[in-house]
Amino acid sequence: MNTKEQVLALLEQNRGSAVSGETIAQALSVSRNAVWKAIRALRDEGYQIEAGTNRGYSLAAETDILSVSGIRRHLPDPLSEYADRMRFFSEIGSTNETAKELALAGAPHGTAVIAAAQTNGRGRYTRAFCSPAGGIYMSIILHPEHLHFSQITAVTAFAAVAVCEAVEAVSGLHPQIKWVNDIFLGGKKICGILTEAVTDFESGGLSWIVLGIGLNVCTPADAFPPQLRDTAASVFPESAPPDAKNRMAAEILTRLLSPAPAQDALFSAYRERLLMPEHEITVVPVGQDKAEYPAVIRDLDSDGHLIVQLRGGEMRTLSSGEIRIRL
Ligand code: BTN
Repeated sequence: MNTKEQVLALLEQNRGSAVSGETIAQALSVSRNAVWKAIRALRDEGYQIEAGTNRGYSLAAETDILSVSGIRRHLPDPLSEYADRMRFFSEIGSTNETAKELALAGAPHGTAVIAAAQTNGRGRYTRAFCSPAGGIYMSIILHPEHLHFSQITAVTAFAAVAVCEAVEAVSGLHPQIKWVNDIFLGGKKICGILTEAVTDFESGGLSWIVLGIGLNVCTPADAFPPQLRDTAASVFPESAPPDAKNRMAAEILTRLLSPAPAQDALFSAYRERLLMPEHEITVVPVGQDKAEYPAVIRDLDSDGHLIVQLRGGEMRTLSSGEIRIRL
């Protein structure tokens, strides 16, 4: 950590209360002038740092800027070591791409690449994922030996439930899951999940998994391009509670880095949040030559497969592909 990051970490630890320049300088073994320069640089980045004569510096409680020290403050003690493995970027191409490079270079389980905006965010089927400021974009490297079996087979479902619970914990709202990897709130998509894995050629086992999550936390509606405004939204489109993004990131990471429930409990939690409209949806099978067709969602089986009924009455179990829902 450089001096600026260390100063921020100290201010985050004491968020809302003042720490004197002298105390900061002593704690970090730097000069008062170096502290002052760091404070100025942080203010330039948008941090609201108040300074009072004889009181010192305090980070305003309502400051909402994503950072490693901001997230660390909200992680439970047993998980705080994972904060040391976080890589933060105010802007990046794609957190999944950087996480894959780190995984190839041997990054340990739980390494998270986190960004406040992406310029080349990717979704499923190599589609672009719009990633403006106001969201949280993160990719977590998971090593299979640290995972319960159910997590390997159902990492996306595990992440979808984790994101829903995190959103609920911070906002009190009740998001739902559109099979298989989208989170919806009020009829619009607030989050997409992209799970990528690399298998070991010789053993056939998984070498590592990169779990990418893009969540619109306080993205204003006009930050989305016009063609997305009817379908994309954020958790807090107008005003967010203090420190919403750091809290939300910590809530998600806490769930993903804690032991997963057994597969039946996981899919039961997933099913409870599944969007199951009574009207027809459109099934979009994988593969360009496969035609879309209308169907009604009937259920989710214990392996996370979607059970749909076609117009003629035929039941189908979907393990891949995607669905389009008009709400
Ligand atoms: C989808 O909606 O198809 C999945 C979108 C996944 C987006 C996240 S944002 C963080 C990570 N980095 C990426 O480039 N993609 C994932």
